[in-house]
Amino acid sequence: MTDSNGPAVDSRAGGMQRRVEELLAQMTLAEKAGQLTQYFSFGAEVDLEDAPGSPQAPGEVSEALECGGVGSLLFVTDPAETNRLQRLAVAGNRLGIPALFGFDVIHGLRTVLPVPIALAASWDPETIERGQAVAAREARAVGIHWTFAPMVDVARDPRWGRIVEGAGEDPFLGAAVAAAQVRGFQGERLGSPERIVAGPKHLVGYGAALGGRDYDEVDLSDAQLWNTYLPPFKAAVDAGAGNIMTAYMPLNGVPATANDWLLKDVLRDEWGFTGFVVSDANAVRNLRTHGFAEDLTDAGARAVAAGVDLEMAITRPAYAHLPEAVESGAVSLEAVDACVRRVLEVKLRLGLFDSPFVDEDRARVVLHDPAHREVARVAAQRSAVLLRNEPVDGRPLLPLDAGALRSVAVVGPLADSPRDTLGPWVFDVDLEETVTVLQGLRDRLGGADVQYAPGVRPARRTFPSMFDMFPGNTPADPEGFDDDAELARAVELATRADIAVVVVGEWQHMIGEAASRSSLELPGRQQELLEAVVATGTPVVLLVMNGRPLDLRWAAEHVPAVLDIWYPGTQGGTAVADLLLGDAVPGGKLPFSWPRTVGQVPMIYSRTTSHEPENAERRYWDEASTPLFPFGHGLSYATFEHSDLTLDRESVDVEETVTARVTVTNTSGVDGEEVVQLYLHQRHGRAARPVRELKGFERVHVPAGASQTVEFQIGPDERRYWSAAVKGWVLDASTFDVWAGTDSNARLAGVFTTTTSS
Ligand code: NOJ
Repeated sequence: MTDSNGPAVDSRAGGMQRRVEELLAQMTLAEKAGQLTQYFSFGAEVDLEDAPGSPQAPGEVSEALECGGVGSLLFVTDPAETNRLQRLAVAGNRLGIPALFGFDVIHGLRTVLPVPIALAASWDPETIERGQAVAAREARAVGIHWTFAPMVDVARDPRWGRIVEGAGEDPFLGAAVAAAQVRGFQGERLGSPERIVAGPKHLVGYGAALGGRDYDEVDLSDAQLWNTYLPPFKAAVDAGAGNIMTAYMPLNGVPATANDWLLKDVLRDEWGFTGFVVSDANAVRNLRTHGFAEDLTDAGARAVAAGVDLEMAITRPAYAHLPEAVESGAVSLEAVDACVRRVLEVKLRLGLFDSPFVDEDRARVVLHDPAHREVARVAAQRSAVLLRNEPVDGRPLLPLDAGALRSVAVVGPLADSPRDTLGPWVFDVDLEETVTVLQGLRDRLGGADVQYAPGVRPARRTFPSMFDMFPGNTPADPEGFDDDAELARAVELATRADIAVVVVGEWQHMIGEAASRSSLELPGRQQELLEAVVATGTPVVLLVMNGRPLDLRWAAEHVPAVLDIWYPGTQGGTAVADLLLGDAVPGGKLPFSWPRTVGQVPMIYSRTTSHEPENAERRYWDEASTPLFPFGHGLSYATFEHSDLTLDRESVDVEETVTARVTVTNTSGVDGEEVVQLYLHQRHGRAARPVRELKGFERVHVPAGASQTVEFQIGPDERRYWSAAVKGWVLDASTFDVWAGTDSNARLAGVFTTTTSS
């Protein structure tokens, strides 16, 4: 068997185009439709009887493979199975065209990284790129060629469960994180050895679902689309992403999966995207469900006409009807051929014709590479956000002094749950080797007595989910669990301990796809547990395991130390122990404004002002209208001071660039890292602009007592925006406020103006 990670086939432009045309010329219409179809292969352990809608008929995928009806497959992660299916695909196909294997490699395959929102919280493109390169290496080793990631949907409503998969509320941070992920997955070029194709998703606006309800409709103005929701996609395309996935919902009434404006005018014409487009699962069929397409033939025809090259199909594909759609004139043969070309091209670029199979022995070695675990550990350290660290006995509670600790109480069911430590969107994991918080602390605190009590039982879904069909997604209730007795036992442990580490948050499947919540409260009896442990008087470190902001109003007043560890992944517990004991210093920052309560959402820092007196803090009768923690917030064991913000010019032409410099000084005795952030505000122009917007950031290492100067360029790209007044991009001559500092409340200020000569 050959190694698919070897050198790619001749992908020089001319040779490749010739090969594509040769193949295309020999293909029948049915074969073309087959190449444009992607099937799920769930494997025997998934009970399709439980899947929603009409599931695939048994044997349907094998039948389709045997008659050349499959261009791509998804959900296969076992290298022996990818080889088996690939053999069927190649043999079932007159022209020997191999299948392209895709999968949701969202934050790792076997080595699980922190969830994407956590990676974004590192504000560190290098860490993100390195992490996704590991994910790509593992995926490619088992025969996966392409990932349905990164999710680059801006998410401003934390009720929406998929906020965990993205980079939060901000388009500038989102664009940087999107590009880093594409580089990590793909390497230098599409087809780089040991890398996979990146598929940014879901074009576009999916995160703005009404009420935060997954799949609900989305209405966004052009200004919101261009200024907020599209920039991360543009950044991903500019970084060379080979694929784009469409979104499920209708955007301003027109389903994203047959939206000519989005897929042609924006993606291909304006951005010059040359890769292939895939629909979300069943989204082509859903064009009928939307009440948009008349039937499946119409659905397939309109998706192809819009440029959806590949249909991801859970149930019978609409693209099976393409031959009749071409014959009836509903879609042109040229449109179908254009899709086939793009699918064949990516297969050639990846070298699949020469090396369709993987080396199963090598796959095992790659999946167990200890270097991958180290990358995951560092990523978990770097993404943790220290929300609060108040003094206890005269010094901040964290870091803990390992030498002085005799007894530690670890409390909360998430503290010893490997599944929950990994978070959502993991499938092919090794739970045995996942380090929980409890395990991580026990490994590190050999000398101390580390006792554990779950205190409360896992919270349950009120309604079943379609994801319940995956094994392990509905863990059994702990046997014989007596709620009051367990809570009392946790309190008792905490009473006797020097320190209590309480882990609260949401269970693995309370977040992710189809996991929106109408409340941000700590689920189950966790709040009660936390309050009871704090009442013992033992100092409490609160660890939050989450992918969305939760209601921490009480904790933010009563718990001295709060560390957001997100879903930290395979090496989560080890990284948490490193952080709690000071071997790693927290440096992550929030990628969203953390609301006080669900009633405030959506809540963003880049709001506009409209009324005098503004009174932005008192817009509600019953609650402050500020966040609990601002966007960009995150503490360190070090302390930093920002000073000397200088701008090299006071006035520039609109086309010119201003250079801002700011000095950051570590005023403590601990080495640490600070994310220096730069915000910009335009005072007047052809639209009312946000009070401030992130336009630069850099995570810098600053040794104790040292200073460093950070430089930012504020050029036309940072100042250009889309204005509804002119229905286009503008660069205003205006006055700009600049702020630099530690979070979105940064106060160190400067000002410059821009002028126009014409
Ligand atoms: C549906 C999700 O919306 C999408 O993000 C995912 O990639 C596909 N299912 C495949 O699992």
